[in-house]
Amino acid sequence: MAYPDLRSFLADLGDDLLHVRDEFDPQFEIAAVLRSLPADAPAALFENVRGYPGARVAGNLFGARRRVARAFGTTEDRLAQAWLANKQRAIAPVVAKSAPVQEVVHESPDDLLSLLPVLTHHEKDGGPFITTGVVLCTDPATGRRGMGIHRLMVKGGRRLGVLLANPPLSQFHANAESLGRPLDVAIALGLEPATLLASVVRSGPQGPDKMAVAGGLRGEPVELVRARSVEVEVPARAEIVIEGRILPGVRESEGPFGENTGYYFTNVSPVIEISAVTHRDNFIYPGLCPWSGDVDTLLSLAAGTELLGQLQTMVAGVVDLDLTSGTAGFSAAIAVKGCPRHEARRLVMLALNLDKRLKTVTVVDDDVDIRNPREVAWAMATRYLPERDTVILGGAEGYVIDPSSAGSSAGSKAGFIATRGAGPEFDRITLPAAALAKAQALLATLHK
Ligand SMILES: Cc1cc2nc3c(=O)[nH]c(=O)nc-3n(C[C@H](O)[C@H](O)[C@H](O)COP(=O)(O)O)c2cc1C
Repeated sequence: MAYPDLRSFLADLGDDLLHVRDEFDPQFEIAAVLRSLPADAPAALFENVRGYPGARVAGNLFGARRRVARAFGTTEDRLAQAWLANKQRAIAPVVAKSAPVQEVVHESPDDLLSLLPVLTHHEKDGGPFITTGVVLCTDPATGRRGMGIHRLMVKGGRRLGVLLANPPLSQFHANAESLGRPLDVAIALGLEPATLLASVVRSGPQGPDKMAVAGGLRGEPVELVRARSVEVEVPARAEIVIEGRILPGVRESEGPFGENTGYYFTNVSPVIEISAVTHRDNFIYPGLCPWSGDVDTLLSLAAGTELLGQLQTMVAGVVDLDLTSGTAGFSAAIAVKGCPRHEARRLVMLALNLDKRLKTVTVVDDDVDIRNPREVAWAMATRYLPERDTVILGGAEGYVIDPSSAGSSAGSKAGFIATRGAGPEFDRITLPAAALAKAQALLATLHK
């Protein structure tokens, strides 16, 4: 089932959505709740946001994989395959007749914070940061559309700092600057899950139009509408759109901001001058806490599942792949079946090269649960021999937010092959199925 917008997805969550009716402040307090929610917690809707009567803030939308599975009308165990199959469909967007996101229009707003409850997340953050802003623009050189989540620092008045660490948007901005022109951008906030996830699919320089990818994931085209003050098409059913221009030749300090790596990161970044803000009546502002389960799920689907799909076409026996929680997509575990050691080495090198942000990868047999760190550590402890099973790749590009290699070209990557070796075969311990079933029945009563 395709959800037309974020609010219809939230309405369908039932008990899996926590309605927070007590007053919470967008400065620190909402982020503190989002950070404190346990892994299995429901999504949260803050209905009483201090200083913003009528506004609501949603968060932890993807903290549990079951909610993403629901968004795509599938189950958790079929999610990766459903994602890969649906993505192939590529359904082009259409231009909508009506645009709920333009129900309220603020031309040239003087102060963004007077309109939107942008969250301040961490003690040493340089200010409020928008963390789920899908930045949309077209390449002045080719007319190609680009979109991705980019962190945005509210700098006061009409200015936003934007971290452009990744193509295609960094390239589009460079192309505009080489012409001495500002780059029209629109920032969509509060999207239904498919469009948000499609925006962070790792696509490469010749990648598909992510709006068509979103359409494929939904099974229906995304509805777009022309922004009011810039030459950009925006999702008609977003909750909020901020319109503006990235100023050519301008760079300012942007940060510090507590990143998906779990560390503060400051950059010298381009600046957006806001030209309009549009939103729906009773808009819902979307929160996303960095270095959280929410981010883990976004990355695991948009980057991890993509990589899994690529590797399955290249190496026989690749069963599953998981980007390890909390690692900002720098570490992965891959499960294989019947994959000889030399093929596992090739797999490691392919994975590390295909994803430029991936730094370590561990290959295990498919009897190991790759989403359980204890099991992956156990495979490393009992099936991996350092001298025999380590692959090191030197001379890799360091990623800007990775504290171990930021700003240097001396990045390196490693693969660990923790599959059963050629040595004597040890039998993994087991228990009789009937005894385990009886134990499960007991546990089920304890949880009631
Ligand atoms: C939660 C999250 C936050 C991100 N923040 C930024 C950012 O601040 N700056 C940036 O350049 N890329 C950021 N990215 C990555 C871009 O959205 C990127 O375009 C996306 O991963 C797609 O990859 P592509 O560059 O291959 O198209 C972020 C990704 C995620 C999932």
